[in-house]
Formats: sequence, structure tokens, C-alpha cells
Amino acid sequence: MITAPFTIAIDGPSGTGKSSTAKELAKRLSIDYLDTGAMYRCLSLCAKEAGIEPGDAGLLTPLAQSLEFLFPEPGMVILNGIDVSNAIRTPEVSGRVSIDCAIAQVREVLVERQRAYGQGRSCVLDGRDIGTVVFPNAKFKFYVDCDPRVRARRRVAELVAMGHEADYEQVLSNLLERDHLDSTRAVGPLRRAADAIVIDTSNLSFEQQCERILSIVRAGTAS
Ligand code: DC
Repeated sequence: MITAPFTIAIDGPSGTGKSSTAKELAKRLSIDYLDTGAMYRCLSLCAKEAGIEPGDAGLLTPLAQSLEFLFPEPGMVILNGIDVSNAIRTPEVSGRVSIDCAIAQVREVLVERQRAYGQGRSCVLDGRDIGTVVFPNAKFKFYVDCDPRVRARRRVAELVAMGHEADYEQVLSNLLERDHLDSTRAVGPLRRAADAIVIDTSNLSFEQQCERILSIVRAGTAS
């Protein structure tokens, strides 16, 4: 059984279930979890409240440096002393975060903070560039993928369960647009690391996704 700290990098497009899986892994392995997307979302939330235009590198970079994050438990995000766990998930924030997070200087600042978080501890980080940029030497790398139509159907079901109206075609087109923006940006694009293990969740239940990753991590930490 290895006792040295180890990193699990989980990347993939949105809506694949990777964040829920990462959270569950952290819980079952009793290690820490960092949702790196939440950091970009916090930046966009603060920028929106400060009236900063999406993509304004000159104002967003110092703002990224000044943010004070706390992640007291998986799913909970405290920004500058305020619980923003829900506020960072609104359509307004989702609508601009792909633009704000594409700025090279912003990524430099937040990637450094993600590395600092993961230093010297065992943890799971999920995002788009964890295995390629943030922790290229992570002991475990996974790329979680899923058919966009399945992702859109799951998202529609979630929205309906929350009491919102949801149009499948609209949801699918938003999702494809976000995939395109995330995977074509110049810096830290969404990309599978050459040594990442692909987990396609299109036909997997949540429990199956978790078990598939857990069995690989357990095998890799047993010796
Ligand atoms: O995973 P999410 O949907 O909460 O991510 C929010 C946005 O941040 C999304 O546009 C992708 C981007 N992101 C990124 O560029 N790099 C990461 N490591 C994590 C998220």
C-alpha cells in the first residue's frame, strides 16, 4: 500500500458526470477534492458583480490573484468569506465562464493556485487540463467522456427535476458550443493526455463509473 501523496487527475467535457464521480472517489478514498471549474466560475461571478466585461484580461487577471477560496467540503465553495456554492452555477455565470477562462494570464494564475492546493497531499482534481497542464505527472489520469446526446438527455432530466423548463435541442446545442470553446482555446484546451485512461460513461451507471476508476486506483496504490 503506498503512503506517499498521490494525485488523481480527471478531465473531460461538461456533463459527463466527472465532478460527481471525483467527489465520490475522494470520499471513498478519504482524500481531498478540488473542483477546478469552481475556481473559474468564482472568477466569473466576481467579475459579473464588479461589472467587468467577459474576457477583459486587464481586469480579470488581478481579480483572479485577489480571490480567496475555501473548499471546506466537496461541493461547498467559500469565496471571499461568502458561500457561493449555488451562485457560481447560475446560467449567467455559466454563460461567460468559457470566455473568461480562455485568457492565458488568468489560467496562469489559477493553475498556480491549483498546483499549490494539490502539493503534498493526496487529492482528486477535476477539470479540463489537469492531466495535461496542472499535474502532468499525476499518478492517475482519467479522461471521462460521454456521447453528447446522452449528456444532453441527462441535463434535461436534471433541469426538469429542479422544476425548470428544458428544451433538448437547445441544451444539446449549448453543450456542443461549450465543448467547442473549451477544446479549441489556445491555452490549456480540453484534451486527453496521451497517458490518460478513457472512461466512456455513455452506457455506465454512476456506480459503475466510480467502481471502474476506483478499481484502477486501488490496484495502483496496493503495491
Ligand atoms: O467543470 P465546469 O463546467 O464547472 O467548468 C466551468 C468552466 O471552466 C468551463 O467553461 C470549463 C472551464 N474549466 C477550464 O477551462 N479548466 C479547468 N481546469 C476547469 C474548468
